[in-house]
Amino acid sequence: MLKNKNLLATIVALTVMVVAALFMTQKEQSNSSTSTEKVKIGVLQFVTHDSLDEIYKGIKDGLKEGGYSTTDNLDIDFMNAEADQSQVQTMSKKLVDNGNELLIGIATPAAQGLANATTELPIIMGAVTDPVGANLVKDLKNPGGNITGVSDQTPVADAVSLIKEITPEAKTIGVLYSSNEDNSKIQVAEFKAAAEEAGYTVLEYAVASSNELAATVEVATSKADVLFTPVDNTVASAFSTVVSVANKTKTPIFTSVEDMVEGGGIASVTLSQYDLGVATGKMAAKILDGANPGDTPVQIFNEGTVVVNQKVAKELGISLSEEIINKASKVIE
Ligand code: TRP
Repeated sequence: MLKNKNLLATIVALTVMVVAALFMTQKEQSNSSTSTEKVKIGVLQFVTHDSLDEIYKGIKDGLKEGGYSTTDNLDIDFMNAEADQSQVQTMSKKLVDNGNELLIGIATPAAQGLANATTELPIIMGAVTDPVGANLVKDLKNPGGNITGVSDQTPVADAVSLIKEITPEAKTIGVLYSSNEDNSKIQVAEFKAAAEEAGYTVLEYAVASSNELAATVEVATSKADVLFTPVDNTVASAFSTVVSVANKTKTPIFTSVEDMVEGGGIASVTLSQYDLGVATGKMAAKILDGANPGDTPVQIFNEGTVVVNQKVAKELGISLSEEIINKASKVIE
């Protein structure tokens, strides 16, 4: 009996110890996850459209690849200005005041807003076409200040040969873009030079806001055989309007991004928006790890692939040659 009592006491004591040990390790674990301070960063997206949404998705994945994940050690303070310049300013200021360690601007106007709000915090440009022309950095290789990032330099001159191949009869190209976006200016100039060199007449149609798009496309399609649109946020965010007006005259629209080919354009030479985002996120992680933005060269993407929309071509009565189909990295049916 005494023996049994001793045994019982031992078992009880052991059980208490095991439970206590389990409890302590659990507590330690929960302590460690609450006590690690999360890194706080701010992201400002200029407007909603598929390409910028895709870039933001890539940014989160790039950050994760670089060791920063929202399920673990990262807090993202995300804002979208929905193309409103006063919101760009207000939100930029808020993102600085909120105690973020680093800021990411998706698209030129967002990066410019952040740049106006701080010269101290590191700013990463998410897909800014012309960082120098937009006054964001002095030099792409040697940014110098608090800003670096990723530049999407779509080879717009390549679109000229695409137009020639798909619509050989076209003589006049209407270029549709926003007069307020620094990213579009350089692309329009580059495209225009290449198109004129190839013998085209180029007509420029600049809009001050998306409200003017319908009326402008109406005029453009009455004068031009085909439309071309650069990587432009205003046009991208209201692209369905462009498509519905251009469809009335069956005018083909050559775009500069895949999402706009999916949305009713006929073809484009395009960069992967997701890859731009991943590179942006990875660069942000590098800066968070201690790299200096001023010494970090801007990463340039300038090699495009061809995307065509077979369905749109059929609707417009255009047959796409086998050569084009074979060359395309993606054919939308
Ligand atoms: N490059 C654009 C800028 O500098 C932003 C952008 C990236 C974009 N991808 C796009 C705009 C696709 C329109 C469509 O502002």
